[in-house]
Amino acid sequence: KIWQKDIELGEGDKKGTRVKVSGRIHRQRQQKQATFLTLIDGYGHLQCVLSGDLTKTYDALTFAQGTSLTLYGELKRVLEGQTAPDGRELHVDYYVVIGASPSDADAITNRVSKEQDPWESSMLDSRHLVLRGDNAASVMKVRSAVEWAFAKAYKDMRFTKISPPAFVQTQVEGGSTLFELDYHGEKAYLTQSSQLYLETGIPSLGNVYCIEKSFRAEKSLTRRHLSEYTHVEAELDFVDFEDLLTHLEEIISTVIETTLADPVTAALVKELNPGFKVPTRPFKRMRYSDAIDWLNAQDPPILTDKGERHVFGDDIAEAAERRMTDIINLPILLTHFPVEIKAFYMKKEEADRRVTESVDVLMPGVGEIVGGSMRMEGYEELMEAYKREGIAPKEYYWYTEQRKYGTSPHGGYGLGLERFIAWMCGQHSVRTCCLYPRFMNRCKP
Ligand code: 4AD
Ligand code: MG
Repeated sequence: KIWQKDIELGEGDKKGTRVKVSGRIHRQRQQKQATFLTLIDGYGHLQCVLSGDLTKTYDALTFAQGTSLTLYGELKRVLEGQTAPDGRELHVDYYVVIGASPSDADAITNRVSKEQDPWESSMLDSRHLVLRGDNAASVMKVRSAVEWAFAKAYKDMRFTKISPPAFVQTQVEGGSTLFELDYHGEKAYLTQSSQLYLETGIPSLGNVYCIEKSFRAEKSLTRRHLSEYTHVEAELDFVDFEDLLTHLEEIISTVIETTLADPVTAALVKELNPGFKVPTRPFKRMRYSDAIDWLNAQDPPILTDKGERHVFGDDIAEAAERRMTDIINLPILLTHFPVEIKAFYMKKEEADRRVTESVDVLMPGVGEIVGGSMRMEGYEELMEAYKREGIAPKEYYWYTEQRKYGTSPHGGYGLGLERFIAWMCGQHSVRTCCLYPRFMNRCKP
């Protein structure tokens, strides 16, 4: 594999080890005396040099981009003044083509070089080829590292991982974004969030987490909305709101530190997002009501989507939220949203019953990446909340019974992995942060 570094290199008269390496042609460059190929195998890049007779025995298609092949030769240190990834190159003495790429392979190059434009539908149709590009591959590698860092952080904090169902018969985040389906003759949905199921895990398992898919029938074509996304969710037992906020700062910071502690991943992040810095703790905290004042105090004021000044009770829409976050340019824990604009399960603040013990984590460039809250503990209060939201509580018996059978002060959150990656990797849209994005009118490839 290209990543193997413990191979003796040749230099000058000193012979290097003869190796066999398989991969695909990423780029090729023709010179008079030699052909230079950049080989990729998912672990890195290797420069391969073909000279002498080897450069005469192929036709143009053999070395088209995408062609898979096995090469044999001696690994040498590159001469001073020449460049190659890692300072190594393979002096090829023999090769076997495994899968030639067609002559329009160049089209791949073009698609790949345009991969930054996630809106163009031909790019999305060609996502399987775009994924072969350096940029897409780097984002996927960072994403993999981040998922692992989350799993490690939770394990170190002794959270138990559970795997809630995707087919459900209850809503969590409002009826308007539910994907409904026929489940053997019964009405069911694709889950919007695993939160309610996580809550049922805490009595016997303590703090729990999951990394599962969530589904939202979002009718919005924004750069941060997907129909299917990866949701990192956790639920903490016997905590108060302050504990929850501190935990959020800790998990986000730890995951970034772990991810960047690996030099290979750190180099990818640096290339994708040169300005990225580990946020300093504690994060800036801001109550919803102060955010409303802040928006109105700007010159000119940052208005609602309807073009009006914000008043208490307004949802802070995506555009205003992002502008605020970009101007402040720091991670923000935005807290204490009004009851009416938040989900039924959120606990009210003691001091001000108009607001909830809720939090959104906002990051520059993306806005909201986390939504969380303390949960209502009392049965009667929860029943009231269902009534307020017009939800029939019957289907929720397994959830509401948590309050009957030994309730506890608890809270949790959900973090959109694609949004986290968009922030960390400086991506314009969440669409380039997943393998095959799903959003309105897009369900292929
Ligand atoms: O704010 P949300 O809707 O909160 C919940 O689902 C809670 N039940 C989570 C919990 O407490 N366990 O979603 C949480 C996060 C958002 O902050 C966002 O990062 C992401 O999920 N998210 C989306 N990401 C991509 N596309 C969408 N359509 C998303 N909707 C939410
Ligand atoms: Mg939210």
